[in-house]
Formats: sequence, structure tokens, C-alpha cells
Amino acid sequence: METRSVYIETYGCQMNIADTELILGLLKPHGYESAPTPEGADVILLNTCAIREHAEERIVGRLGDLVKHKARKPGVVLGLTGCMAQHHREALLDKAPFLDLVLGPDAYRNLPALLAQESADEPLVSVRLDRDETYADIAPARGEGVRAWVTVMRGCDKFCTFCIVPYVRGRERSVPASALLDQVRALADQGYKEVVYLGQTVNAYRDGEVDFGRLLRQTARIDGIERIRFTSPHPSDMDASAIDAMATCDKVAPYLHLPLQAASNRVLGRMERGYSIEEYAALVDRLRAAIPHLALSTDIIVGFPGEEEDDFRATYDFMAEVRYDFAFMFKYSAREGTRAYKWAETLSEAEKGQRLQEIIRLQEGIGGEINRQRLGQTVEVLVEGPAKKQKDWLAGKDPQFKTVVFPGNGARPGELVPVRVTSANAHTLVGVAERAYPV
Ligand code: SAH
Ligand code: SF4
Ligand code: F3S
Repeated sequence: METRSVYIETYGCQMNIADTELILGLLKPHGYESAPTPEGADVILLNTCAIREHAEERIVGRLGDLVKHKARKPGVVLGLTGCMAQHHREALLDKAPFLDLVLGPDAYRNLPALLAQESADEPLVSVRLDRDETYADIAPARGEGVRAWVTVMRGCDKFCTFCIVPYVRGRERSVPASALLDQVRALADQGYKEVVYLGQTVNAYRDGEVDFGRLLRQTARIDGIERIRFTSPHPSDMDASAIDAMATCDKVAPYLHLPLQAASNRVLGRMERGYSIEEYAALVDRLRAAIPHLALSTDIIVGFPGEEEDDFRATYDFMAEVRYDFAFMFKYSAREGTRAYKWAETLSEAEKGQRLQEIIRLQEGIGGEINRQRLGQTVEVLVEGPAKKQKDWLAGKDPQFKTVVFPGNGARPGELVPVRVTSANAHTLVGVAERAYPV
């Protein structure tokens, strides 16, 4: 079989990173190797995100750069996959007529066949959403490392009024538990130490009797896997079973990303998030009571249509009260096709920017304070590899998902090293290993 090479550039969330591994896994049996750069690749794919306008603008710009590779060698295929492909479908060809391929998230199975079609003079568009597609039988081609991403459910049924995801990823569906547990056992055999379960509402997972909590408990019994994480859980689906799994399984890391979006009930209601701020706050209390040393992070949107000054204050005050370990904070971006798209925006970009800066400043302070409380303490670091900035240092994560860097002590990736924290900022803990390893 002739070998061809494929280069994939990935945008957006972890689900897309996992989908890129899935696409590579689908293409591998058809003789495709992964190329590290677009130069020399036979197939160039952008696996895209549609969550905010800015994400899409970046991708359009990048396509402009990449089109030159089509002139380099006849037959080079340039394609767009993922959420933006699903969002704009054929209309993308007006903006980028040079595209050969437009493929939505449920159409990856067709990719080898589409690439094999010889007379592809016309661009090929495949954007049918499929409520049964879970790719449960496909082995993703994962990169090396200590952490493996495992998609446990696809799609979303929540339809928050601002969000494009349900339209581009389709209906919620779960991968059978037996397939997942087999996959994790195989990952443990391959030497992975950590699995991260993925889904847009990951804790809505269900396969018959197996709910998300049960899936976590079953996963925790697999030898070789040291840590289990997951993202993103939805507050409304954080039930007793899932909390119990976090509280009782040592391997399930004490870290939860719990997207809030806004703290005013008026805004939450118009977002149709499905919880009130009182319910969310009660959930945080329950989680903190059940899970010692729990780290919490969140997502916040500022400038949702109709967000008044006191709505924004409510979000600011709530963040100050809860004290998240970290937060992903965004300016509202109107997405065509969502319900909120029809609602007039009531804030200018500059006003949204000001509100964003205010909460970023608040959060930076809180994150730094929380991390400095760890000074002098010892944290257990799962080593991932060399630190990015400091030569001969190692980097990894502690159970709370904080990045920890320390001078190299001979430990290899995948080893658990106790590190004493000597300094900290809002994003990183710096320390020294408590023991040396034979080199
Ligand atoms: N399923 C997750 C969120 C996935 S999208 C959940 O429900 O929590 C990741 C984050 O992007 C969201 O939490 C939200 O904060 C942000 N986001 C989504 N749509 C957005 C929009 N139209 N404008 C700005 N931010 C948005
Ligand atoms: Fe989007 Fe809401 Fe679904 Fe999250 S739960 S993916 S924010 S619709
Ligand atoms: Fe973006 Fe799609 Fe993820 S819209 S955030 S890549 S699910």
C-alpha cells in the first residue's frame, strides 16, 4: 500500500483534540501517516471550532496561509473538519472555494472513502449529523505521553441559548461502557497513567445501568491507571453517584471544572442553563464537604444580551465568594443559529472588554492566593516531561491539576514524585523534589 501523509491542525476544546486522534486512527489502516508539518503532507486538515466568532476568524486566516500548499504539488487535499465545518457547511465554499473537503464531526468514518475518490474536481461536503455515531469501534491514534483523552459521550441536548455546540455536535449519545473499559485497560497496558474522560456534558453519560459515577468507579479498578479526570461536567448532572465516585475513589482526582457562566438568576434564566445560583452554590457546598482539597474551576461569559451592571456585579461577587482555583473567562459572542443570536446585544465590545478585565484581575489575585497557600507543602506530581521554560527542569500536574515545575531529579514521565512547593503564582507551582532518582 502506498503511504500518504496527513497533517491535522486542531482548534477548540479537548473533544476536538480527541477527534483528531480519532481521524488519525481512522486513516492509519488506509496507509496514512501523521505528518508533523503541512510542508510535504498529502492531506492537510484543519479540525475546527465554532464556539466564538474569534475562533472562526482565526481559522479563515489560517486557511489563507495553507492554500499555498495546493500549488506546491498537484493532488494535495485541503479540508476543514469539525464544528466550524458543520456550522457553515456548503457556505464555507463561498469564502474558501479552494477547499476540497468539508466534513462535520459525525462524518469522519467517510473520510478514507472520500479521500480515495479519484475524480474529486468538486469539493466534497459531508455534514450529516448521526444520532448513533459514537466511533466506539475505532482506536484513536494517540500521541506519546502519560495522559490519554477518552471521549465517553458525544453531542449535547442542553441547548443553552448562547451555545452552538448542540447544533454542530448533534444529540447526546454515550459510548458503551464495555468498550470504554476495554479501551482504558489497553491504555494502562500501553503505559498511560492518567485518563481524561471527555464529553460536552460528560456527567450526563449513561449506558443502561451505568451512569457516570458508576463508570468512574469501574474505571478506578483498572490497575496501572493512577489518575482519572473528566471534563466538562454540567452542574445539573452532578448527581449523588458522581459525587460519591469523586469522594470515594482515590484515583479520581479532586478537581472539578464546573462551568457557571453567570451568577445572576435573570441571566442564568435567559441562558437556560437549567440551574439557579442558589442551586449552584448548594452544589459547591456539597462537593466541598464531600471531597477534601477539591480544586474548582469554571467558565464565565460576560456581556450576555441584557446583562446589566448589577447582573455583572453578582457574577463578580460570586467569583470572589466561591474562590475558584482558575477560570476561563469570555466575552459573549453571538453565534448564528442559536436562540440568543436574535437578541440585541446591549453592551459594546469595549464594555464587554472592561467587564472581562475586571474578573480576570479578580481571578488572577484569587488563583495566586490559593496557590501560595501550598508553600511549604508537599504535592504529588505526575511527571509529564521537560518544563517549557527552565532548562533541565521537569513539569507535571498535581492531583488538583496545577502545573508544577521542579529541577530535574532523574524522574521519568509517568512517575509520581513528591515535590515541596517553594514558590507559586496564579498558574504554576514551583518546587523541589523530595527525593532523587537514580539516573
Ligand atoms: N459543555 C460545557 C461548555 C462547552 S463550551 C458546559 O456546558 O459547561 C466552553 C465554554 O465556552 C462555555 O462554558 C462558555 O463559557 C463558552 N461559550 C460557549 N458559547 C459561547 C458564546 N457564544 N460566547 C462566548 N462564550 C461562549
Ligand atoms: Fe453548550 Fe450548554 Fe451544551 Fe455546554 S451544556 S455544550 S454550554 S449547550
Ligand atoms: Fe469548539 Fe466544537 Fe469544542 S465548537 S469548543 S471544538 S465542541
